[in-house]
Amino acid sequence: MGQDLWSQWLLNRRFGGDPKRMRAALDYLYRVRDRVLSNANLTDGETLLDVGCGDGLIAFGALEKVKTGRVIFSDISQDLLHHTRAIAREMGVLDRCRFLLAPAENLPLQDASVDVVTTRSVLIYVSAKQQAFEEFYRVLKPKGRLSIFEPINRFAYPTYAPPHMFWGYDVTPVNGNRPEGKGTL
Ligand SMILES: C[S@@+](CC[C@H](N)C(=O)[O-])C[C@H]1O[C@@H](n2cnc3c(N)ncnc32)[C@H](O)[C@@H]1O
Repeated sequence: MGQDLWSQWLLNRRFGGDPKRMRAALDYLYRVRDRVLSNANLTDGETLLDVGCGDGLIAFGALEKVKTGRVIFSDISQDLLHHTRAIAREMGVLDRCRFLLAPAENLPLQDASVDVVTTRSVLIYVSAKQQAFEEFYRVLKPKGRLSIFEPINRFAYPTYAPPHMFWGYDVTPVNGNRPEGKGTL
C-alpha cells in the first residue's frame, strides 16, 4: 500500500536524498523545535497536544520536557501516525503517548483537556485558520499555552519572481505548461 502524500514528503522526499541538505535542514528544524518548546514553558506532568505532528519533530522533543506527562500526536496523515507510534514503541514511551487522526479545525478532544498546544508549519496548509484557533482555545485548560511556528512565505521570498523561478531555482524543465508572465508559482 502506498504512503499518503504528507508521509511521502516528510519521510522520503523532502531532503532529495542529499545528506548535506538533510543535515542543514535538521540543524535549522531543531532550533525551531527548541524555541517552540522553550516558549511553551512545559513542566512535569503536563499534557501537550501537537497539531499536525508530522514525523514527530515537536512531539518527541516535548516528551522529554513533560517527563511524566503525556503528549498527543495529532495529524491528518494516518501513515505518519503509524510511523510515530512505531518510534514511540521502540523508545518505550508508548504509555505516555496518544495518537489522534484529526484535522486542526476539528479536534476530537474534550474542552479544557490539555495544558499546551503546539504546532509547526501546519496552519499554512489550513484554510479555516480561525476555526483551528477556536479549537486550540477550546481544548486548552484555563491559563493553557499555545506555542506555534508558522512560515509566512511573503516575508521570505519576493512577491514577484519571473515565472521560471521558484525559491531561487530555475524550474523551467518542470514548468512546461505555465503561461508566461503570470507571476510567482
Ligand atoms: C510541513 S509538515 C510539519 C510537520 C511537523 N509539525 C514538523 O514540525 O515537522 C505539515 C504537517 O501538517 C499536517 N497537516 C496538513 N493539513 C492539516 C490539517 N488540516 N490538520 C492537521 N494537520 C494537517 C500534514 O499531514 C503534515 O504532517
